[in-house]
Amino acid sequence: MTGPHSAPAAAAVPTFPTGVPLKDAALADRIGGRLAQVDAVLDQAVASTDALADDAGRHLVAAGGKRFRPLLTLLAGELGDGANPQLVDAAVVVELTQVASLYHDDVMDSAPVRRGAPAAHTVWGNTVAILVGDLLFARASALVAGLGPEAVVLQSRTFERMCLGQLHETTGPGAGDDPVEHYLQVLSDKTASLLSTSARLGAMFGGCPEPVVEAAAAYGEKVGLAFQLADDVLDIASSGTESGKTPGTDLREHVPTMPVLLLRQRVDRGEGTASDTDLLARLDGDLSDDAALAAVVADLREHAVLAETRELAVRWAREAAAELEPLPDGPVKEALTDLATALADRTV
Ligand code: IPE
Ligand code: IPE
Ligand code: MG
Ligand code: MG
Repeated sequence: MTGPHSAPAAAAVPTFPTGVPLKDAALADRIGGRLAQVDAVLDQAVASTDALADDAGRHLVAAGGKRFRPLLTLLAGELGDGANPQLVDAAVVVELTQVASLYHDDVMDSAPVRRGAPAAHTVWGNTVAILVGDLLFARASALVAGLGPEAVVLQSRTFERMCLGQLHETTGPGAGDDPVEHYLQVLSDKTASLLSTSARLGAMFGGCPEPVVEAAAAYGEKVGLAFQLADDVLDIASSGTESGKTPGTDLREHVPTMPVLLLRQRVDRGEGTASDTDLLARLDGDLSDDAALAAVVADLREHAVLAETRELAVRWAREAAAELEPLPDGPVKEALTDLATALADRTV
């Protein structure tokens, strides 16, 4: 496996999901070793004696992915005793949860490609993809049970928030709700919840005192917002080769994203130009034709709403870093701060 979607190899210097290397050599070395352990446990955790479950369950783990959530757990663990072996299991739990949610997400978004590989539902159909996602959630539950009741409750609350976020993305804002505020809540629930839990579990199993655990969780929540806003930018701005996903997938399926919501807000407030109104009408129309989709992607790439979304991501990343300010300075705090900055501006 090579390229941005590959799992980190045993001896590789770990990089942030953006490809930026961790500055501190000793920290990079420790995290690199533990990420390799995470991959080994992950491999066992997705194994099944049933041939179809084994094949389909390994599909996305083997395809790679950035392993961002395990990285967050292991880094937050370094705020305390990063060598606690339970950190590896916690990191596997969050990655299993992530992977399971991707099986489901690609069905809901009709996404053709994931982690540079064909999405599972395009290979085995929706039913198998949904059931395999459920199976991986079950495996995450079994593993988290070994981490004790506090971790189990955390995992279940996170799972609930992810489901609610997805549900509210699907239903959209109610009458009287501000669409942008509603969407930020969707992003918090569907994405930031798991990033917050990844960081919280890391600090918890690193044996950190309560204020540090809370700071790590608050950091993860805000980093999650920045991360998902950057993902919304990627759906429009990425080449697809870099992101391992098909650009314009959300647009084609009329899945809301921040740039489109900001455009709609402009038009609704009477602040849009005639070409904004035209672009919005095309975005709301049929985008099954490749040329029609390419045209709206090209127009959005040039539009101020894309830069505004990037700016929002940068702001959330700054707020994430601010959560760490009370913590003592050192390479771990520096790495987490650099990570927040890199994420807001990521291209993968
Ligand atoms: C995809 O997450 C789902 C989102 C919350 C945006 P990632 O972009 O971290 O995907 P992988 O794990 O690297 O495949
Ligand atoms: C994914 O959201 C959220 C999950 C928790 C899976 P998206 O649908 O925006 O993510 P991508 O762009 O497909 O990875
Ligand atoms: Mg989705
Ligand atoms: Mg999706």
